[in-house]
Amino acid sequence: MTNQKPKLSADEWDELNFPRPDVQEFDRVVERAISRRGFLGGVLAFGSGAAVMGTGLLKGSTAMAQQASRFAFEQIAIATDSTVHVPAGYNWKIMASWGDALFSDAPAFDPATGIPAAGSDRVFGENTDGMELFNIGGKEVLAVNSEYTNNEINLGTPDVEDAVATSAEDVTRLQNFQGVTVMEIAEGADGWAIVKDSPFNRRITNNTPITADGPAAGHDLLKTEADPTGMAILGTLNNCGSGRTPWGTYLTCEENFNGYFGATAEATFDDAVAAGYKRYGVSTKVDPGNYNYHGFDARFDVTKNPNEPHRHGYIVEINPADATSTPVKHTALGRFKHENAACVVAPSGQIVVYMGDDERGEFMYKWVSRDIYVPGGDTSTLLVEGQLFAATFKDDQTGAWVALTPEATGMSAAEIAIFTRTAASKVGATTMDRPEWVAVNPVSPEAYCCLTNNARRGAMKDDGTPQTNAGGEVLALNAPNPRATNEYGQIVRWRPEGGNHVSAAFTWDLYVMAGNPAVHKDGPYAGTANINAGNLFNSPDGMMIDSTGIIWIQTDGDDSNEGEFAGMGNNQMLAGDSVSGEIRRFLTGPIGSEVTGLTWSSDKRTMFVGIQHPGAGFPAADGLPRSSIVAVKRDDAAMIG
Ligand code: FEO
Ligand code: CA
Ligand code: CA
Ligand code: CA
Repeated sequence: MTNQKPKLSADEWDELNFPRPDVQEFDRVVERAISRRGFLGGVLAFGSGAAVMGTGLLKGSTAMAQQASRFAFEQIAIATDSTVHVPAGYNWKIMASWGDALFSDAPAFDPATGIPAAGSDRVFGENTDGMELFNIGGKEVLAVNSEYTNNEINLGTPDVEDAVATSAEDVTRLQNFQGVTVMEIAEGADGWAIVKDSPFNRRITNNTPITADGPAAGHDLLKTEADPTGMAILGTLNNCGSGRTPWGTYLTCEENFNGYFGATAEATFDDAVAAGYKRYGVSTKVDPGNYNYHGFDARFDVTKNPNEPHRHGYIVEINPADATSTPVKHTALGRFKHENAACVVAPSGQIVVYMGDDERGEFMYKWVSRDIYVPGGDTSTLLVEGQLFAATFKDDQTGAWVALTPEATGMSAAEIAIFTRTAASKVGATTMDRPEWVAVNPVSPEAYCCLTNNARRGAMKDDGTPQTNAGGEVLALNAPNPRATNEYGQIVRWRPEGGNHVSAAFTWDLYVMAGNPAVHKDGPYAGTANINAGNLFNSPDGMMIDSTGIIWIQTDGDDSNEGEFAGMGNNQMLAGDSVSGEIRRFLTGPIGSEVTGLTWSSDKRTMFVGIQHPGAGFPAADGLPRSSIVAVKRDDAAMIG
C-alpha cells in the first residue's frame, strides 16, 4: 500500500534539516590522485604504511588464505527483496514488531492506521535500535531503544510525504512511540514473544520523568521555568545505540536530540546558548521541522525554553529490574550525539566506557571511573566521578586519550559536560568519519569503532573553502579517515597500552575499509583485502563482539544496489574474524531497512536482531511496514555467539 521509498534514518533526517553544502569536484581529484599512487602508496603517505591496514589484510597477503575459517556458516548472497535472509542451517522469526501490546489494555494494532494516541505508551515503540537482554531472577528481560518515528507510518498517513504532527494528539503519539521499551520475553512452542503484563514491562518515552547527576546536573544552563532545579528532566530523546553495565543496568544513548526542537518566533539567545545551538545543530528556525513538537508542546520551543536542549544528548542509565525506578542522565559522560556506550572493566576494577559522537568530523570519547567496580558493592559513583577523554590519532598508528579537564580546556566542569564537543576541539581531538558503535573484544584487549561514512571528508564547500565540522575544523584527510568523499566507511581498531583500557596511550589500525572492487579496480575505494565480491557492504554502523570474539557488523547504508553501491544490496549483518580479518555476510534485511541492534538470549541459542525502518512489505505484504526484532536460531538449536 505504500511505495518502496526507503525511510529516512535519523542521521539522514538530521542532514536534511541541517543541510551542508554539496560536495565539490575537488574530492574526486583527491580520489584519482590516491588511486594513481595505488592503495599502499596512498596509505604509506600517512605513516608506517602496511600495518595501518591491519596485519595480514593487505592485498596479496596469504595470511588470510592460510587460516581456516572460524565461521560455522556459508556466506549468503545479497538481497533486494522485502524479507530477511539467513544462512542455510539457520532460521528466523519475528519476535516483536512496533505496536505489539505490552499490556492487556493496550490498543490493538490496525494494519492501516497503526496505534492511536490513547494507549500509545502501552506498546513496543517504533524504529527498534540498540538493545540488551538481562536475565533477572530467571526471567529474560529485554531493554530496547526506539530511535525515532517514521511520521507517515506512525501517524497512520502512509500517503502523506514528510508528515509532521498537526495536533497535540499527534505529538503525544510520536512522543510515546520513542524512547525505550523494557519487556519480558519468553520462548514458547511458537518461538519468542512478549510476556504481556509482566511486572518488568515498561515504556520510557519522550515525557518520562528522568533525573540527572554529574557536573551539569542543576546547572543554570539546565534550568527551565518548569524545572528550577535543573535536574527534573522529562523524557529521553533519539535513543540510538545501547550499552550495559557490569552491575546489570541498561545504558540508552541520546543521539540526534537536536532535531526535536524549533522556534515559534524569531528570537535572540545568549552567546553561549547560541554557540551551543550552532555546534549541536539545534534549530531556531520558525518552521515545523521533523516533528513539529514545538508547535504543540512549548517545552520544545526554544523561544520559550532555550535551555531545554541542554537537558538532552546524554547517556541515560535505566534499571530494567525495577519498572518504577527513575532513569538517570549521567552528564559526566558528556553531551553529544551519543551512538552507544561500550563498557569494560579494567584490570584495576575501574569502569571504562567508550563512546562515539555520530556526526561528520566529530570525535570519539572514553570515560574512566575514579572508583572501582566491586560486584555487589556500591556502584553509584562509577558513572559520576571520573574523567572524560577525547581521542587523538597520529599518523604513525599511535594515539592518545586526552583528558577534558578545566585546565586543558579553560572550561568549567559543567561547561565540559554540556558543551563537550567544544571541550574536545580545544584539546585537538581528531575529526572522525562519523563514529557509530564502539565494541570491545571480550577475548582480546582491543576495541573497534565503526566510522560509517563521511561525504564531506576532504571536500570543498560551494564557496570554495574546505568542508569543516560544526566547530569549524577542516575535514582534511587523516590517517584513520584516509579517503575523501568517504561513502563506504571503515572500522578503526585500537589496542590500549599494556592491554589496559585505562591507559591513555594506544596503537591502532584499520580493521576494514569497505569498498567496491567491481566499481573501483584498485585504490582505496576498492576497500581493504578482506573486501571481496562476495561480501560487499557499505556504511558499517551497529557492532557487537560476541563471547567468542566474532565481530558482528550491521550496516546503515545506501541500499540502491547501483552505481557506487552496485552489488551491495539491502542493508545487512556480517560476521568478522578479529584475527584473520575474514568477513562473511550472515543476514540481509528487507529493502528500505537498516539492520541495527543485537543481543542474545541468556543461553546464547537465540540471537535477536533489529530491523529498523523497513520499506513496504515487511513484515507483512499488506499493511503498514513495521520495525521489528527478529529471533535468529540455528536449526539444531546450538549456541550462536
Ligand atoms: Fe542512530 Fe548514528 O545512528
Ligand atoms: Ca537508524
Ligand atoms: Ca546507528
Ligand atoms: Ca547510521
